Amino acid sequence: MATAARSPEPRIGLTPHVPSPENKAAFDAAIVDPDSYAHEERYHAIFNYLREEAPVYWCEPDGYRPFWTVARHADIRRVELDTDTFINDPRLTLATIADEERIMAMTGGNKLTRNLVSMDNPDHKHFRAMTQGYFSPKHMKQLEEDIRSLARESVEHMAALGSECDFASEVAIWFPLRVIMLTLGAPREDEAFLMKITQEVFGAQDFDHMRPEEMGGLFATITEFNAWCDRITADRKANPREDVSTIIANATLTDGSPMGNMEAMSYYLIIAAAGHDTTSSSSSAGLLELIRNPEEMRKLRDDPSLLPNAVEEMIRWASPVKHFFRTAAKDAEVGGVPIKAGDGLVMAYPSANRDSAVFDDPFAFRIDRANVRQHLAFGYGPHLCLGQHLAKLEMRILFEELLARFDDFALAGDPEWTRASFVSGMKHLPIRYRAK
Ligand code: HEM
Repeated sequence: MATAARSPEPRIGLTPHVPSPENKAAFDAAIVDPDSYAHEERYHAIFNYLREEAPVYWCEPDGYRPFWTVARHADIRRVELDTDTFINDPRLTLATIADEERIMAMTGGNKLTRNLVSMDNPDHKHFRAMTQGYFSPKHMKQLEEDIRSLARESVEHMAALGSECDFASEVAIWFPLRVIMLTLGAPREDEAFLMKITQEVFGAQDFDHMRPEEMGGLFATITEFNAWCDRITADRKANPREDVSTIIANATLTDGSPMGNMEAMSYYLIIAAAGHDTTSSSSSAGLLELIRNPEEMRKLRDDPSLLPNAVEEMIRWASPVKHFFRTAAKDAEVGGVPIKAGDGLVMAYPSANRDSAVFDDPFAFRIDRANVRQHLAFGYGPHLCLGQHLAKLEMRILFEELLARFDDFALAGDPEWTRASFVSGMKHLPIRYRAK
């Protein structure tokens, strides 16, 4: 039997630009540096070291409030499951003290939006239940035909581009946005606007997407989005449809009062933003790995029933969400390390997904990896990704259509990743291909 291709396991000392952990200030700066996330080998060198030597590590980067990084699969699962001890509010993602202060000055609080990922119970349970049925596997199946039409449109666009394209920016970024717009019931003419919104919210640390005013720009984007949301809420109250916007627009709070504008806007935004770059990054990373590992591509062509498992492996490999925070609500312990009430913890999902305690040969891309569904790319526990069934369905359909239409995929240039420590993935993936 042929063996799967291996990627080298990045190590500190062998990888350029990763400071030695003995220089704590420089090492801690590398953990939060968006550049570390745009270079897979750099990220993995840092976190391979942490998993082995300091799985729960106190990180004190200059300009940030200190926090623990949690690098091992088992420890992240434990933190995510215990929602009484580890809560989502108030600290959600890595932000500099200066940015936190700017948000405080603009909003009087600690965030620009209030949505599922920043909520704890009882609100989290209530808000999640609103759309859980819509995003269930059973309901997602009903969207299959519409999603396939969108996938075919993307693949035909690739064919029209000839035999070369930038798969990340010309295909993978558009298809999931259109799928999300299908769930929201947003018209095609809103596409450019929604693209801008999702790019600015998640790509805020990337120079190509950043507005000069940075956080001020982000605030302006969210204000623009607010007006869009008010229009869709008013319309779906008057003209209910079979879309998730209708559910959000007509939802009520725990006391039976109608959902407020801030909550509705935040709900639309989390669906639009969380469902976009994550899925497109995983699709680009998946295609890249199939190109880099021709034996895996051949296995998939020989046995297309492997595709659902292959999609899971693509998502494990890409782990586009690089972290979320939890805050200890009381004194606790993780991996034998005492944690004080109020401490923040960064859950490093891509690190969990390269943990050799769970995944055999974790730096090999194997589409038939038996236990791949144990990956934590979708998180774990009560906050487990709401859109995971949609993401997997759309990726399966996209790859079915891609493999049916084209042959001889090859790299046509160097791939490039986004500089962002929250959600990051491929920005450019130049490829060559041949229409069948
Ligand atoms: C939450 C990853 C696609 C909507 C999350 C979380 C992760 C994640 C890591 C946090 C889970 C936790 O805290 O335990 C991903 C990845 C995706 C993807 C890797 C694609 C490959 C989508 C899609 C949607 C979506 C397509 C569209 C609806 C959400 C929402 C939450 C969430 C609403 C918040 C859930 C909660 O806090 O209860 N996702 N996601 N995601 N995701 Fe996704």
